[in-house]
Amino acid sequence: MLVTGKEILQDAHKKGYAVGAFNVNNMEIVQAIIQAAEETNSPVILQASQGGLKYAGVEYIAAMAKVAAEKAKVPVAIHLDHGTDFTQIVKCIRNGFTSVMIDGSKHPFEENIAVTKKVVEIAHAAGVSVEAELGKIGGTEDDITVDEKDATFTDPDEAEKFVKETGVDYLAIAIGTAHGPYKGEPKLDFDRLKTIKERLNMPLVLHGSSGVPEESIKKAVSLGINKINIDTDIRLAFNGAVRDFVKNNPDVYDPRKILGPAREAMKEVIKGKMTIFGSVDRA
Ligand code: G3H
Ligand code: 13P
Ligand code: ZN
Repeated sequence: MLVTGKEILQDAHKKGYAVGAFNVNNMEIVQAIIQAAEETNSPVILQASQGGLKYAGVEYIAAMAKVAAEKAKVPVAIHLDHGTDFTQIVKCIRNGFTSVMIDGSKHPFEENIAVTKKVVEIAHAAGVSVEAELGKIGGTEDDITVDEKDATFTDPDEAEKFVKETGVDYLAIAIGTAHGPYKGEPKLDFDRLKTIKERLNMPLVLHGSSGVPEESIKKAVSLGINKINIDTDIRLAFNGAVRDFVKNNPDVYDPRKILGPAREAMKEVIKGKMTIFGSVDRA
C-alpha cells in the first residue's frame, strides 16, 4: 500500500523503531526490497538517488516503485534521495513520489533554510513529505581530520532553528557516518544524537548506514533514529552474487539465471537489516 513518508516515520518515531530506506536502481532491487518487507511484515521506503534517476529515469523508477507499493500489503513510501534541484523535485512529485529529500547541506545555513522552505511549501501542498539535511555527511574518500569532521556534525541549536523555520517532516543529521564502504569502524556521536532528539522530538534520519556495526545501529535507533538509508550493502550483495554465479556457471548467458540469485542475496541482506532496525511486524 502506497503511503507518505511521514505516515511511516511518525509511527516509527512514536514507537521507537527505524524503517529502512533502500536505494533502487532496477527491477531486481525493487523486488528484493518489497519481498523482504512482505516476508518480515515491515513498512519500507524505496528511494531513488541522483545516480539511480540518471541510470533508470524518473518515469521508470516511479512506475516500478508504484506497482510494487500498490501490490504490497505493507506500507511503502516512494522517496527522492538527496534531491538538490527544484525542477527535479517537482517532477518526482508529479510522478507519484510520496516523499522527497531536499539536500541543501552544501549551502550556508540561511540558504539551506531558504531552499528547504521553498520545497516544503510545494511538497506539503501536494501532500508529499519532506526530508532535509543539516550538517555534512561525508564520502569515505574525504581526507579530512577529526577536528574538521567535528565541525561538520549537526549543531543542536541550528537544528532546532532549522526545523522551526522550514517545517520539514524529518531531518537527516551528521553524527559520524559516511556514504560508501568504511575504511575503519565508524564512531558515532551518540551524545549529539540524544541531544538533537530531545530538542527536536521528531523523526531523524541516518545516511551512510551500510557497514555500520549492528550494535551501533541498534544504539542509534534506541536514541531516536527512525529512517536508515542503505545502498552500499545492497550493491555488495548484488555484486557478490553475480560474480559467484558467473564464476561457477561460465556457460550460462540467460540474464534471469544470473540476476535471480542476486535478487535473492539482496533480499536476505535487506531482511537482516529490517530485523536490526526493529521494523519487523510493524506493518
Ligand atoms: O546517497 C548516495 C547513494 O548511496 C548513491 O548515490 O546512486 O548517485 O551513486 P548514486
Ligand atoms: P550507504 O551507501 O553508505 O548505505 O549510504 C546510503 C545513503 O545514505 C543514501 O542516501
Ligand atoms: Zn545519503
